[in-house]
Amino acid sequence: TERTYIMVKPDGVERGLVGEIVKRFENKGYQMLALQMIQPTKALLEEHYTDLKEKPFFPGLIKYMLAGPVVGMVWIGKDIVKVGRRLLGETNPLASNPGTIRGDFGIDVGRNICHGSDSPANAEREISLWFPNGVVHWNRAHVQNLIYE
Ligand code: GTP
Ligand code: MG
Repeated sequence: TERTYIMVKPDGVERGLVGEIVKRFENKGYQMLALQMIQPTKALLEEHYTDLKEKPFFPGLIKYMLAGPVVGMVWIGKDIVKVGRRLLGETNPLASNPGTIRGDFGIDVGRNICHGSDSPANAEREISLWFPNGVVHWNRAHVQNLIYE
């Protein structure tokens, strides 16, 4: 199984969507390993989005992400990187299907509510970056049989 880093962005936190987003991952059957609300620093955000630093929207993205606290989470489960991004929807909320988080709750790409890692390698990079002290490792052994064949 695989882990991913899911983050509710400042707009999602201020709009009270944290519980809704947690609920969708829980309903799917995925397991939470970590949860934190923090005010990220500029340096942390620039490291998180290092692949995008040449993009024209990068300064606006950093400003948006600095607007308030974020809620970062680590989740684990089968194919969670890919399926987690499917739960979030497309980068642009207007292109996202209803039933996805961005499709149900968002309009503009620069206010798209949530983040999800785009590869297993990036997920582990982001988990180390946001949770430098590590996260719990626990097995829901008795629940796993209800979710996995
Ligand atoms: P994340 O899960 O947040 O990483 O989104 P993503 O993987 O779907 O998109 P990407 O990593 O390419 O971009 C990161 C974030 O930058 C997006 O979620 C948007 O908030 C923002 N972004 C991406 N493209 C644009 C754009 O063309 N214009 C603006 N204003 N913001 C953008
Ligand atoms: Mg991305």
